[in-house]
Amino acid sequence: MDTAFELVDVHKRFRLANGDWNEAIRGVSLTVRQGESIAVIGPSGAGKTTLLRLLNLTLRPDSGEVRINGTDPSRVKVRALRRLRARTGTVYQQHNLIPSLRTVHNILAGRLSSWSILRSLHSLISPREIGSAAEAARKVGVLDKLWERTDRLSGGEQQRVAIARALIQNPRHLLADEPVASVDPSRADALITLLRELNESEGKTIVVNLHDVPIALRHFPRILGLHAGRVFFDLPPGEIKADLLMRLYEGDEDMTEGETRAWIDETMKGSLAG
Ligand SMILES: Nc1ncnc2c1ncn2[C@@H]1O[C@H](COP(=O)(O)OP(=O)(O)OP(=O)(O)O)[C@@H](O)[C@H]1O
Ligand SMILES: [Mg+2]
Repeated sequence: MDTAFELVDVHKRFRLANGDWNEAIRGVSLTVRQGESIAVIGPSGAGKTTLLRLLNLTLRPDSGEVRINGTDPSRVKVRALRRLRARTGTVYQQHNLIPSLRTVHNILAGRLSSWSILRSLHSLISPREIGSAAEAARKVGVLDKLWERTDRLSGGEQQRVAIARALIQNPRHLLADEPVASVDPSRADALITLLRELNESEGKTIVVNLHDVPIALRHFPRILGLHAGRVFFDLPPGEIKADLLMRLYEGDEDMTEGETRAWIDETMKGSLAG
């Protein structure tokens, strides 16, 4: 079976303003097969976003190894590295769309990294490129909004545009950081279903960071619990019980222990309800 991502004992730390170091990822080893679909959960500060950025090669580990489809990015030349990066499309938490641009142009911006600036500018009016933007927009269900200004779209539609932008380079792997954080709950399920369909119909590897635990448990066959920069568990959803979640979110600064317990009870009900 092909390996999409392989991490071996990866560490990543950041320098803080006061000169201290913060170790965000503390010895993570992880294998993700091509076409697999994983949700990453865990309290704020657990290292979810950092992990995603190690996977899409925008961050380099301080130690340990990261391999993409078997290739070690630190051993390839600049052009090969660019191609390796282009295998992964990422949808960020703040989706980084340019509000005043039309949908079509925001989608085409997904190609900027692989094009010369001149060609990028030209692309804004090329019919052939508009065709591929339209195809990406169709896949995510915003084809009718192709020529709208992006800031006229709803939060959920904007998130779909961000996914279309990630799709336009036809990546093998799709990463998403809290893609439903700013979407109303009734739309959140539909967005995650869309990602799972891209996973199933096109064989794309999907790794999604989620605050919404019920959604993670309902939609994903493999759940990675991150805590303080370490893999706390790596399990199918059926094996994740309330006590395990309680320990995962223990010490979360946003909630007291009682609040955490109540929230997890709700979560377990919610994951069954769907
Ligand atoms: N660029 C940075 N500089 C300094 N510290 C950072 C940087 N990026 C992340 N960190 C720290 O690394 C730790 C992990 O952060 P990360 O953003 O990966 O957490 P997270 O699990 O995504 O949290 P959240 O659920 O709030 O998004 C945190 O303590 C954070 O403050
Ligand atoms: Mg984060």
